[in-house]
Amino acid sequence: MLGNFSYSNPTRLYFGEDSLNYLNEELPKYGKNVLLVYGGGSIKKNGIYDKVMEILKANGKNIFEDAGVMPNPTVEKLYEGCRRAKEGKVDLILAVGGGSVCDYAKAVSVSTYCEEDPWEKYYLRLEDVDNEIIPVGCVLTMVGTGSEMNGGSVITNHESRLKIGHVFGDRVFPKFSILNPVFTFTLPKYQMVAGFFDIMSHILEQYFSGEDDNTSDYIMEGLLKSLIHSSRIAVENPTDYEARSNIMWIATWALNTLVAKGKATDWMVHMIGQSIGAYTDATHGMTLSAISMAYYRHICPYGLAKFKRYAVNVWDVEPLGRSDEEVAGEGLDRMETYMKEIGLVTDIKELGVTVDMLDGIADGSFVMDGGYKKLDHDEIVEILAASMR
Ligand code: NZQ
Ligand code: ZN
Repeated sequence: MLGNFSYSNPTRLYFGEDSLNYLNEELPKYGKNVLLVYGGGSIKKNGIYDKVMEILKANGKNIFEDAGVMPNPTVEKLYEGCRRAKEGKVDLILAVGGGSVCDYAKAVSVSTYCEEDPWEKYYLRLEDVDNEIIPVGCVLTMVGTGSEMNGGSVITNHESRLKIGHVFGDRVFPKFSILNPVFTFTLPKYQMVAGFFDIMSHILEQYFSGEDDNTSDYIMEGLLKSLIHSSRIAVENPTDYEARSNIMWIATWALNTLVAKGKATDWMVHMIGQSIGAYTDATHGMTLSAISMAYYRHICPYGLAKFKRYAVNVWDVEPLGRSDEEVAGEGLDRMETYMKEIGLVTDIKELGVTVDMLDGIADGSFVMDGGYKKLDHDEIVEILAASMR
């Protein structure tokens, strides 16, 4: 049964090869001062920076730049961004990049006029925003996080070895996001496939919870099938527009809050993955892929019926004449084969994790209780150990 919920998503999306032109429709809605936020320079190499600058200038904007947003943005960078946004009295933050840049833009948006330490208020105490918010718009260049159409913002504090996401409400969602699949063509293969698994993990972590007959589960099975199909094509041919555009759209739907409505969700892989990220600064999607098989094999007996359904509906496993355990197990085996085929990391050692870190990573993993098994500390260590080959 679907639980009760309210639903709205305030982000306006512009999708397709010509979508950047719509920046011309959005910019006049905001004041003159724009903070252009971007990462380590990919947008300068692939020409997106020049295209965006041209449109900003044509619209008469005063442009303030905040470059160098790192993957897994840090709390120190956040403080710097807030100073810059305040100095420029900015009316709009335009994020041009991947999830890190979009997440960071949202963090600056809520933190610039926050009178307390934003790390403590938003990330440690997970409090709501009660101060002025600077509107955010996104031009997405990396696919995976769904940050373009949600209120999520993940910040890393290396000193306290914590990577924490705050899921902010509607007011913090990007006002608009521009999704041009061609902009993702220049992603290195490692980042591209990490993004693919981030999408898969978002879907699975909402799918593997609850036992109701729930429309969202059917939507997610469709998204997964489309993702598996298109990702195989994209790995062979990264400039296949059809595949890359499908994947970009799947990523948005995987985490724009719709499929979570009215059902329980898990998120334990993300909690452990984020803790690995706090220790190693590894690529987000790879922290998830490296632990997923051990995690799902661990919880499979507790959610057997759903794992069987996953095997049959997503991986086309033939169920006739076989036990539920066999069918579910084959589904997970097929998933692992696919992960290796597209080039995902399946060993946390490759991400820089060493045995002496396991206890700390387990301590830094927030324990969720929406999945099929609420994990204790020792089980997290066991899953981590099983993710070292
Ligand atoms: O910094 P630049 O030079 O731009 O290079 C980036 C970066 O090194 C590069 N890149 C991006 N677009 C490119 C490109 N390189 C060539 N061509 C392009 N078109 O890719 C690298 C990774 O970018 P990043 O933004 O870090 O990746 P991603 O989109 O995976 O974002 C990861 C962050 O998002 C958080 C993660 O925890 C992590 O901090 N997440 C946010 C979520 C949300 N808002 O809901 C949910 C996710 O689960 C996730 O936790
Ligand atoms: Zn993710």
